Amino acid sequence: MATTLTPVLSAHWDADRSWTLAAYEANGGYAGLRAAVTRDPAEIVSMVKDSGLRGRGGAGFPTGLKWSFLPAPDGGPRYLVVNADESEPGTCKDVPLMLASPQHLIEGVAITSYAIGCHHAFIYVRGEVLHVYRRLLAAVEEAYAAGYLGTNILGTGYDLEVTVHAGAGAYICGEETALLDSLEGLRGQPRLKPPFPAVAGLYARPTVVNNVESIASVPAIVTRGVEWFRSMGTEKSSGHGLFSLSGHVARPGQYEAPLGITLRELLEMAGGIRAGHELKFWTPGGSSTPIFTAEHLDVPLDYESVGAAGSMLGTRALQIFDETTSVVRCVARWTDFYAHESCGKCTPCREGTYWMKQVLTRLEHGKGTPDDIDLLLDTCDNILGKAFCALGDGATSPVTSAIKYFREEFEAGLHTPASVLFPPERTSLFDYTPRHEADRMAGTVHA
Ligand SMILES: Cc1cc2nc3c(=O)[nH]c(=O)nc-3n(C[C@H](O)[C@H](O)[C@H](O)COP(=O)(O)O)c2cc1C
Ligand code: SF4
Repeated sequence: MATTLTPVLSAHWDADRSWTLAAYEANGGYAGLRAAVTRDPAEIVSMVKDSGLRGRGGAGFPTGLKWSFLPAPDGGPRYLVVNADESEPGTCKDVPLMLASPQHLIEGVAITSYAIGCHHAFIYVRGEVLHVYRRLLAAVEEAYAAGYLGTNILGTGYDLEVTVHAGAGAYICGEETALLDSLEGLRGQPRLKPPFPAVAGLYARPTVVNNVESIASVPAIVTRGVEWFRSMGTEKSSGHGLFSLSGHVARPGQYEAPLGITLRELLEMAGGIRAGHELKFWTPGGSSTPIFTAEHLDVPLDYESVGAAGSMLGTRALQIFDETTSVVRCVARWTDFYAHESCGKCTPCREGTYWMKQVLTRLEHGKGTPDDIDLLLDTCDNILGKAFCALGDGATSPVTSAIKYFREEFEAGLHTPASVLFPPERTSLFDYTPRHEADRMAGTVHA
């Protein structure tokens, strides 16, 4: 079992002005692109396939395999779209990666585009992170000026344009087909699949959609090789990944480690749970993945092991909560988010998330009814597997898993407010203002 970090993407985040092209080149940047353009594009696709790299955006689909689904060239355009919409509660890896080392992503974009025969790539970035958008724009400009993008890249005759697009800030636009609609200027709502983007994606042309971290992982696979990548992680979940620790942990942040590391090992490196407290529950992959408890501290964080233990690796967003936290309040906040972000296209999710929010608000305020827990489970049952996209399914995960592990806290919601059982000032990591809580309970502000 791995007990050390494996910094690759994060290796030079603390370098002086790490976001500049000069700093990136000084640390070996663009060696991957230089090597890639001397090879046949199909070789690069095979390499990424053989490395076992799986999509880092949540679902874990094999990246090289996805590329190989593109139909044979027909003379028309084909696109690479990078999903940089990162909006899942707890997920915070792509934003720091793009802030600290945007050239890593741009080099990955250039190599991937070359491999799949794309001449126009798009980076769809979440609009609220204006600082990241600006940094990406500046980084793309630097890459053009240095001849890594544009026409006749590195004298090879290969051309690539890159467009950075800022979304308007909707979680659903991270769903790959909603993202494509949004990029085309339409309202961001998921498309019916098939056809999959590989066949009919952006402007109905063959398109590869990949997460920021997936694409940024490509340059090192090209320079260091398949065996090096496979030497980290497990047989079916190879390589390194960013694990984002947040919440009640002594040193929150990004820990880049081999897949298969455990939370216990990560916590050892992160200084443990905040002093004087103990772990109560945590998410292995963001708020859409079923919660885990202290009994799962030794579950290897790879796709297979997390799945076997009843959750999903997702985006490796480890949100950590100690014993001061009300599970009911936490699940109620997450559900507020899903109800707000539901795009409204399908009835199970649009109506179901709305009703779950009403029921959870009652339970949070100690005003639940005896039927409320069954009503929540029944609503989840009507969403799971019946919603049009994975947002609906994800909205049920925190609810069903929290009831499974902490049913008695939901039962307490029939008579006692969560704020009495778990005073928010004990949970908060920041200066707590009771006035703000009072306003929130009264519904005049959102926490
Ligand atoms: C509601 C919703 C939001 C999503 N948000 C993101 C996101 O912000 N970034 C991302 O890479 N994938 C997100 N995904 C997953 C994408 O649909 C898609 O699987 C991913 O971009 C594929 O890239 P990968 O194979 O490199 O992981 C989201 C999915 C759903 C259902
Ligand atoms: S599951 Fe929710 S987000 Fe997805 S299409 Fe249906 S309403 Fe929209």
